[in-house]
Amino acid sequence: MKLWDGRFTKQTDALTDHFNSSLSFDYRLYKQDILGSQAHVKMLALQNIISQDEANQISDGLSELLSEIENGDIDLMQDSEDIHMLIEALLTEKIGEVGKKLHTGRSRNDQVALDMRLYLIENISNVQNLIVDLLDTIYNLAKQHITTFMPGYTHLQRAQPVTFAHHLMAYFEMFKRDYKRFEFTKEMTDSMPLGCGALATTTYPLNRDYVKDELGFTELCQNSLDGVSDRDFCSDFLYSVALMMMHLSRFSEEIIIFNSHEFKFIELDDAFSTGSSIMPQKKNPDIAELVRGKSGRTYGNLIALLTTLKGLPLAYNKDMQEDKEAVFDSLDTISLCLPIFTKMLATITINKDNMYNAASSGFTNATDVADYLVKKGVAFRDAHHYVGKLVLFCTINNFTLETLPLSEYKKISPIFKEDVFDAISIATCVNERQVKGGPSPTAVNKHLDIAKQFLNQVKA
Ligand code: ARG
Repeated sequence: MKLWDGRFTKQTDALTDHFNSSLSFDYRLYKQDILGSQAHVKMLALQNIISQDEANQISDGLSELLSEIENGDIDLMQDSEDIHMLIEALLTEKIGEVGKKLHTGRSRNDQVALDMRLYLIENISNVQNLIVDLLDTIYNLAKQHITTFMPGYTHLQRAQPVTFAHHLMAYFEMFKRDYKRFEFTKEMTDSMPLGCGALATTTYPLNRDYVKDELGFTELCQNSLDGVSDRDFCSDFLYSVALMMMHLSRFSEEIIIFNSHEFKFIELDDAFSTGSSIMPQKKNPDIAELVRGKSGRTYGNLIALLTTLKGLPLAYNKDMQEDKEAVFDSLDTISLCLPIFTKMLATITINKDNMYNAASSGFTNATDVADYLVKKGVAFRDAHHYVGKLVLFCTINNFTLETLPLSEYKKISPIFKEDVFDAISIATCVNERQVKGGPSPTAVNKHLDIAKQFLNQVKA
């Protein structure tokens, strides 16, 4: 028997039931469904729509159900259309006829919208806590590497020297934006839909503000048609996850490259690496590769939901049931990736010598040789040309700009003096870049201060 079978003359086909059911994935909403129902009946009693005694019986029954579910005493994998129907059926089974009053003045359309919002608000906060752990790890690692010189890259070609701290703090900024994007997503989710009914509210004198306050929402969904058909908050969430996974994927890519034998800038801890079944020498960066790989499915989830929503007329359509697997999968993916990524990062070993050697052997100070000339009055374009000649000479004759004799410099321009070597040392190149946002220890320390303030603020 179905809760809605009154107008039907035939049983639904077993395939219809199977196809229609969302219980296999929306069972996760059981807690939100129960808390939402409890706020709803409390309000129904206050508004004299049901009696206080009825509300108490329903609410107590729901509390019992919640603890039974959490203790594992109830198998949620039952023959039911969705978690909302199942909880209502279990309640009526438990407390009898009065359970049937729970759904007064409510539709599953506003109910499911409520459950999803409650579920996301709670879980976004969990994701944000994981982001803070990652930010902490990056911050602490960066603090130790303010003078660890390494090449900065463009086109994956050595470009100009930076420090490992400066490089890491670029990721701090990305993940800080991710944190804020999730905060915004939470704001978009923080509107209370209950009372919108199926689409046009109800004739019962509901007090939506009471339910809103009871459940801790900041705002009400202001239009009932929108309230039951808005899944923007799900899309915002999926976008926030996809973008953060893109950042994690880029970071993973660098970890894989830096950990390679060709670079050897870092070494992954044994605990966060894997071996090969055939090649005994292998120590593979599988964690980073899986994080990079899993970014793909989170893009898929975002595109899937946007595509599902794009043709839907107002208000609720069953298509919307498709929001759940996308949201749950993206949530699971990021919740799985973040802690392991953080641990992997916290345990890497840094090979400072290799970083330094790479920074000093790829002409990363060529710009600084040009700037040396500019500071002595040469136009930048001419200086650029002279240094190009120097680099060509070095490449052919196996010199670096540091090892090239002054006599060779002078052949290109008599302006070069002995002080050129000091001006183009890797340390000078980095330390003199004191512009805000730059790699010098002074600039990075300022950035670290700002980062610390952010961390203190989000942890407060
Ligand atoms: N399982 C449904 C969903 O996830 C709940 C809402 C069903 N509403 C309806 N009128 N069939 O969207």
